[in-house]
Amino acid sequence: MKILHISPELAPWSKAGGLGDAAAGLVKAIAGQGHDVRIATPLYGSVPDREKMTTLIESLTVDVSGDAAKAKCRVLQLKVAERCEAWFIEHAEYYGAREVYPAREDTAERAAYFGRAALDACLATGWIPDVIHCHDWTTGLVPVLLNHNLKNSALGRAASVLTIHNLQHQGLLSRRILAYLKLPESLFHADQLECFGGVNYLKGGILHATQVTTVSPTYAQEIQTGEYGFGLDDVVRRRSQDLDGILNGVDRDEWDPESDPHIAKKFSAKDIKGKADCKLDLQKQFNLKLDPKIPLIGVVSRLWDQKGLDLALGALPKFLRAGKIQFVLLGSGDAALENSFKKIAEDFPHAAAVRIGYDNGLSHRIEAGADFFLMPSRFEPCGLNQLYSMTYGTIPIVRATGGLADTVTPWSAGSKHGTGIVFNHADTPAIEWAIGQAIELFHLPKEFSAVKLNGMKTSFTWADAAASYIKVYKKSLKKA
Ligand code: ADP
Ligand code: GLC
Repeated sequence: MKILHISPELAPWSKAGGLGDAAAGLVKAIAGQGHDVRIATPLYGSVPDREKMTTLIESLTVDVSGDAAKAKCRVLQLKVAERCEAWFIEHAEYYGAREVYPAREDTAERAAYFGRAALDACLATGWIPDVIHCHDWTTGLVPVLLNHNLKNSALGRAASVLTIHNLQHQGLLSRRILAYLKLPESLFHADQLECFGGVNYLKGGILHATQVTTVSPTYAQEIQTGEYGFGLDDVVRRRSQDLDGILNGVDRDEWDPESDPHIAKKFSAKDIKGKADCKLDLQKQFNLKLDPKIPLIGVVSRLWDQKGLDLALGALPKFLRAGKIQFVLLGSGDAALENSFKKIAEDFPHAAAVRIGYDNGLSHRIEAGADFFLMPSRFEPCGLNQLYSMTYGTIPIVRATGGLADTVTPWSAGSKHGTGIVFNHADTPAIEWAIGQAIELFHLPKEFSAVKLNGMKTSFTWADAAASYIKVYKKSLKKA
């Protein structure tokens, strides 16, 4: 098959969260199974490796309305892996800034343009995919374009797949986008793209894609409920027959304690000694007391309400004050949350440390050096960090939601089974209970080491995910 992916993030060239990792892991694995893959993505100002890129299309006139000069872009290409190329859409005005999702007045056009550019690049080069796989809200209008403007084009027979990585972000934007993309005004209807007086990109994608997927089986169920549906649960339910939940994987090229260049000492399930050095190194870096005997809990996260870390604020001081845990956090996002975590670090200078910002190397050192990794998410479509944690022998403490529920099996006192500490409620007492469990487990050496190894033996691979996506592509081709 020929498969075109369209994604606003592609690690390591661009990444705001897990989507960057997921897109990269998936395209490489699909190509690895013998398919021909292209992935279109914007060339942000922060994208490295320009000198390695070649020109695929010097000047592409994208079929959008408005200023003719502004409709033009250049398309650069770069080999990602065998049979897998990235197509970078270069448009200085739309994507020249460094951020992936900046707050801008032209967010609607900026998102819509790269999807249409990806389709026009196919038409211009004659590389016509069988399946077009879209990721998240920015690409939601691509399936709509395929069903309308492009129906009678060479792309008219392509099937489309939309993967929802996160239903919270939908792209509820101005209706002027219909005219910009030359889509019919009849789509501005509650049964179609209209939502609260605007156009909802993700709603368009959910309704128009041949098949819809999300990133875990549990999240596929959750998003059909009012509690997790962010107002689109009825729309998702309309597609429930065409919806699959497929778990993400771990990209071993990036996340493997046996070969990770970012960590102090390499280690594996067979020889885990190096993990103790990684813990000491982390304590040193964060200026914490150098002590192998105290459980160290790590967090690497976007600081948004989704992640539930505000609920942890109430639980942590008690344990820090009693000298029962050390805590390190790397993250950024909501300013109030950033400040609250900074305050915890100030209050407990040798037991807690917080780094506000984005730092890939440090995120690897936290995964390697921590004993536990905390993810108290209110919702979590899949989550990658708990998978990385288990790979690095770091025991995840997670709330049983979405992909966290599907990937971490609960440990319970007195047993050597399970891969993590799992709790149910999104509130402070539940997190307090879970941290208490973690401390108890830490001080039971046999159980602690068994649960660590259970996690290291799990294997969530992109090859498995790719095989499931290929089944979805086959289903979609039968319908297209
Ligand atoms: P989400 O996509 O919702 O943010 P995931 O768990 O799927 O959650 O993926 C988050 C990814 O982003 C992980 O690879 C994580 O290590 C990374 N990440 C998040 N915040 C930071 C940060 N401040 N510095 C470095 N990496 C980060
Ligand atoms: C989203 C979700 C996260 C998921 C990631 C990659 O950002 O919040 O749970 O792992 O996408 O699919």
